[in-house]
Amino acid sequence: MKRVITYGTFDLLHYGHLNLLRRAKEQGDYLIVALSTDEFNWNEKQKKCYFEYEKRKQMLEAIRYVDLVIPEENWEQKVTDVQEYMVDTFVIGDDWEGKFDFLKEYCDVVYLSRTPEISTTQIKESLKEK
Ligand code: CTP
Repeated sequence: MKRVITYGTFDLLHYGHLNLLRRAKEQGDYLIVALSTDEFNWNEKQKKCYFEYEKRKQMLEAIRYVDLVIPEENWEQKVTDVQEYMVDTFVIGDDWEGKFDFLKEYCDVVYLSRTPEISTTQIKESLKEK
């Protein structure tokens, strides 16, 4: 069985996220999503989530492409996650192109093109304007 992992916040789940998760799952048979915790988002990305961790986790678990959701709590955990979960392929959107090439020592690394014209930030901004 080929195992795939991806990382992200997935707040205000949108079709760009679904496209990413579908194509991530197509890279293998079992998809793990490492979901940023509220603390990690706030402390490391200065992002405040609309939906708290447990709600974002429930939504991801309801998606048929997703097999397991684990917490992303720091930047350093990727190598240990890849080893612990016996991951074959690390997948992430190409807004991160090149940033995780150091993982190539441990697994395949795939950057997928982002879906144009949609993001959590954009949804938040456009709702503010209304
Ligand atoms: N993603 C994508 N296409 C989009 C938006 C996101 O492929 N239009 C991917 C990202 O590249 C990442 C994953 O979905 O691999 C989770 O992204 P996340 O940062 O949670 O979503 P964004 O909508 O980009 O959120 P923000 O605007 O807060 O950065």
